Amino acid sequence: MNNTVRFNNSRTLEGKYIVITGATSGIGYAAAKALVLRGAKLGIVARSRSKAAELSAELGKMTNGEAQVDCFIADMSSQQDIRRAAAEILNRVPRIDRLINNAGTMFVKKKLSEDGLEMTWAVNHLGPFLLTSLLLDRLIASGDARIITTSSHGHKMARRGIDFNDMNGDRLYSGLKALLGGANLRYGQSKLANILFTAELARRLNGTGVTAHCFDPGLVATNFNQDNGGLARLTMACMKPFSRTPEQGAQTLVWLAESSELLLKSGGYYADMKLQTPSNAARDEAGASRLWQVSEEQTGLLAGPGLRRIQ
Ligand SMILES: NC(=O)c1ccc[n+]([C@@H]2O[C@H](COP(=O)([O-])OP(=O)(O)OC[C@H]3O[C@@H](n4cnc5c(N)ncnc54)[C@H](OP(=O)(O)O)[C@@H]3O)[C@@H](O)[C@H]2O)c1
Repeated sequence: MNNTVRFNNSRTLEGKYIVITGATSGIGYAAAKALVLRGAKLGIVARSRSKAAELSAELGKMTNGEAQVDCFIADMSSQQDIRRAAAEILNRVPRIDRLINNAGTMFVKKKLSEDGLEMTWAVNHLGPFLLTSLLLDRLIASGDARIITTSSHGHKMARRGIDFNDMNGDRLYSGLKALLGGANLRYGQSKLANILFTAELARRLNGTGVTAHCFDPGLVATNFNQDNGGLARLTMACMKPFSRTPEQGAQTLVWLAESSELLLKSGGYYADMKLQTPSNAARDEAGASRLWQVSEEQTGLLAGPGLRRIQ
């Protein structure tokens, strides 16, 4: 990877409509700038109205007012928010060419979402799962759409796969496991879930023209982990000299969004613009299928009236 990444401004995404989460900071922010410079229209899904408005204004300024940027407000830990934002997107956006699930976080101390689910899992896996499911019909109707999810090399921490007997991380966040870095393992499980979800989604989408991809951005200097107190901030600061810039971290994401489909493998896990082999746990088809079922239960997709179940 080059140390200096300059996104070129070739209009490879002219007129494409891209829904992106986590664009108000870090990798997503760098990606949003690169995507509009390539001619994409953006639908930003953000939890902060003011940050979304600031980003929208900045993207407008950068393109002399040419960029079309729509803002949708949702905290990705809230299933109600996601359902509301998805309904608004479906109402306002007739065609979606790319969905980029990039928002992500890590909770060092255990916290439950308003739906009673552990927060790292809720934001990093269930949020993308629900948003994708709700937008899927529109993606399929749009033709050769793509779903891109930001995973991490950190998925390798979850060597034993997803612990389906501890879906709310009770064991990881208590006792010795907590002291030994249970929160990191929880993050690893959520990033493993991104890969398993992508692989299972690709299998289910086979023949629809829509493809699914995920990637590892590398170690990137962003605001990641900054809310987790002094020690986490210190760790991130120590790693900064070895980290990539957000622009470098966004490079594979942008490449996945703009490259010819002939270069890409649906279900693939990428890093540095190359197909990679993820961990053994990430290649477990039975695990991916079970994760899908559990995720449907955790998001109420089976129970909700009018919600399409992906077969
Ligand atoms: N940085 C790394 O070294 C690294 C390495 C591997 C993978 N990743 C992955 O890269 C992705 C982007 O992270 P980043 O490094 O760019 O971190 P970041 O600078 O902290 O950006 C995270 C983005 O996600 C949004 N977000 C977090 N929680 C949210 C929630 N509950 N609802 C809605 N949006 C939420 C943030 O919104 P606000 O602006 O409102 O906070 C922000 O836009 C994550 O999925 C992360 O797991 C990062």
